[in-house]
Amino acid sequence: MTPLGFAVIGSGFQGRIHAENVAASTRADLIACIDVDGARAEALAADTGAAWASASVDDVWADPAIDAVVIATTTHTHHDLALQAAAHGRHMLLEKPMAVSVDECREIEAGAEAAGVIVVLGYKFRFTAAARAAKEAVPDPRILVAHTLYDPAPPGAGGWVNDRTLSGGRLVSSLVHAVDMLRFLSGAEVVRVFAEGGLVAEPSLGEPDTTVATLLFDNGAIAAIIHGTAAASGLVSTWSFQAARSGINATIHDHGRRLSLHRPGAEPAHTLVVDPSTDPFRAGTMPLLEGLVAAIAGEAAEVPGSRDGMLSLLVSRCVEEAMTTGQPVMVPSV
Ligand SMILES: NC(=O)c1ccc[n+]([C@@H]2O[C@H](COP(=O)([O-])OP(=O)(O)OC[C@H]3O[C@@H](n4cnc5c(N)ncnc54)[C@H](O)[C@@H]3O)[C@@H](O)[C@H]2O)c1
Repeated sequence: MTPLGFAVIGSGFQGRIHAENVAASTRADLIACIDVDGARAEALAADTGAAWASASVDDVWADPAIDAVVIATTTHTHHDLALQAAAHGRHMLLEKPMAVSVDECREIEAGAEAAGVIVVLGYKFRFTAAARAAKEAVPDPRILVAHTLYDPAPPGAGGWVNDRTLSGGRLVSSLVHAVDMLRFLSGAEVVRVFAEGGLVAEPSLGEPDTTVATLLFDNGAIAAIIHGTAAASGLVSTWSFQAARSGINATIHDHGRRLSLHRPGAEPAHTLVVDPSTDPFRAGTMPLLEGLVAAIAGEAAEVPGSRDGMLSLLVSRCVEEAMTTGQPVMVPSV
C-alpha cells in the first residue's frame, strides 16, 4: 500500500510526538506541519522532514496528497477542526479530550459519519503492550483501579490547560484518560458515579484539580479513581491501572510501560511486559498511529472512536457533577 499522506495540525508538545511517529512510520508520510504560530510549524517541519509548513489549515484541505490529519491543538479548537477535516474527507487522529462539551462530541461524530471518515481518539494507554496483555489476562475484571496523579505543568508550559474555556477544565482534561482506560479494561459502560474532591493541590488554580471517584459499570464491576495534580502533596503516581477478579490481578505501572500479574500463591508478582519506549509520554503513541493507518486501510483494528471520546468526556463530567453536588450521578444515555 502507498503510504498515507499526513498533516499534523498543532505543532506543540503532543503534535511533535505524533509528527515524529508519522515521520518514522513506513506506512505514513509526513507532508505538512501546521500551527497558528507559523514559526512553531516551521520548526517542527524542519526537525521532522515534513515537506511544508503553514499557519493556515486551509492549505491542508487544498493539498490532495494529504489523506489524514492529526489534530493536536488546544482542546477548544478540536470541534471546528474535526468538522473541517470531515467536510474535506480527511481521516483523523483527534487528541483527547475530543472536545470541550458532549454536544460538540456528538456533532463531530455525526459529521464524521456523514462524511465516511475514520476518527481515532488519542487514547494512547489502550495501545501499550501492557494494557493489551492485561486485557487478555483479565478479560472480565470485577474490580478496577486508576491511580493517575501527576505533576502540574511547570509555570509557563501548557498553562492553557488551566483555562476552562480552552481545555474544558483542568481536571477533566486528563481525567478522560483514566475513564477511557477503565472502560477499555472492563469492556463495560459506566452507569453511576460518585466522587469527592475539589481544589486539593493547587490553591492558585481556582477550580477543582483532584478527585477520588467511584464508578459502577453495567455488568456490576466497580472501579476507583484517584486522579489529579497532587504533586504539591508529594503524592505523584506513575499512572497505574489495576484490573482484578477472583484469582488474578493485573497491574499496569509506569505510564503503561510495565505489567505485573499476581495470582494468589504465586509470589512475587510476575512482571510480564516492559515497553521499550524510554519516554513515558510516548508509550502507546506509535501503535495508536498504526491503529489509525490500519483502520483507514480497512484492516481489522480495534481503535477508540468518536463514541469512546464522547463517553469518556460524559463520565468525566458526571464525576465533576458528583463532586459539586455531593450526590451520586446516573450517567445519561447518549
Ligand atoms: N494523549 C495524550 O497523552 C496527550 C498529552 C498531552 C496533550 N494532549 C492533548 O493534545 C492537545 C494539545 O496539547 P499540547 O500539550 O500539545 O499543547 P501545546 O500548547 O503544547 O500545543 C498546542 C498547539 O496548538 C496550536 N494551535 C492552537 N489552536 C490552533 C489552531 N486553530 N490551528 C492550528 N494550531 C493551533 C498552538 O499554537 C500550540 O502550538 C490537547 O488537546 C491536549 O489535551 C494529549
